[in-house]
Amino acid sequence: MKRLINTSDFTTDEILTIFKKSENFKKGKIKKSLYDKLIITIFFENSTRTRSSFEVAAKRLGAEVVSLDVSKSSSSKGETLYDTAANLDAMQPNAIVVRHQNAGVPKILSNYVNCPIINGGDGAHAHPTQALLDLFTIYEHFGNPKGKKIAIVGDIKNSRVANSNIELLSRFGLEITLVAPAHFMPRIKAFKKTHYLKEIIDDVDIIMSLRTQTERHANQIYASLKDYASDFCITKKLIKDRDIMILHPGPVNRNIDIDDELLADPRCKVLEQVKNGVFVRMAVLETLINL
Ligand code: NCD
Repeated sequence: MKRLINTSDFTTDEILTIFKKSENFKKGKIKKSLYDKLIITIFFENSTRTRSSFEVAAKRLGAEVVSLDVSKSSSSKGETLYDTAANLDAMQPNAIVVRHQNAGVPKILSNYVNCPIINGGDGAHAHPTQALLDLFTIYEHFGNPKGKKIAIVGDIKNSRVANSNIELLSRFGLEITLVAPAHFMPRIKAFKKTHYLKEIIDDVDIIMSLRTQTERHANQIYASLKDYASDFCITKKLIKDRDIMILHPGPVNRNIDIDDELLADPRCKVLEQVKNGVFVRMAVLETLINL
């Protein structure tokens, strides 16, 4: 059973096929290829854009979507993950999209169900469809991005978006530099690292800014988000007229992650990422369900 837990679940060729499909969907070539299929979304952790993006994607392809309300679900009544999975499976869905605050839950669920599981984000571990839509947005802008230089900036250590992007972007030949304060820097050795945006600004094609994951910090690390912003906010003053693409997975903390002026600048692709997210998720759903 094919599943999408990590970006590494898809080969490079499979990803390029997904991008071709996404491109066609974006051009309006959409058929109801998932007519009569049932997709369940179950988000144990808050989400606005990822959940709605999956639901819009499923509906655009003609599928039925059932979104389980987790606040009222059986896990809050003590049901084990195994039983939740077995009960969802008994309804015979064609795919289940799951988000959970704990790393590893989508993988565990996938061992107990007979349909593809798609990881909509698990703890600080992985968020594969976010990385796929980020790479698709980069492809759209640059063509083959091999050799392009990207700085990933912010709370990298606690970010599942960073984790998935590090695997995917390095596989596609992008040169990654990690930019973060010491306490947000992961221990991985393979990449260039710096604490200073000024050191990389003349030598990058893309900046991916990340949200500070305060909900995953045991205690507050910076004196305030304002202090963090004075070192790591991506501002128009910093970028000036350089030809740099700005990405962010959302939700953006305005003037902490990226400043107002730059958010309104055409180099900032945040809303394009959201738009592309629907097409990429359509392609992922179609690929996994119609395999
Ligand atoms: C991200 C997430 O939830 O991992 N957002 C998203 O899915 N668009 C990033 C974040 O919460 O900072």
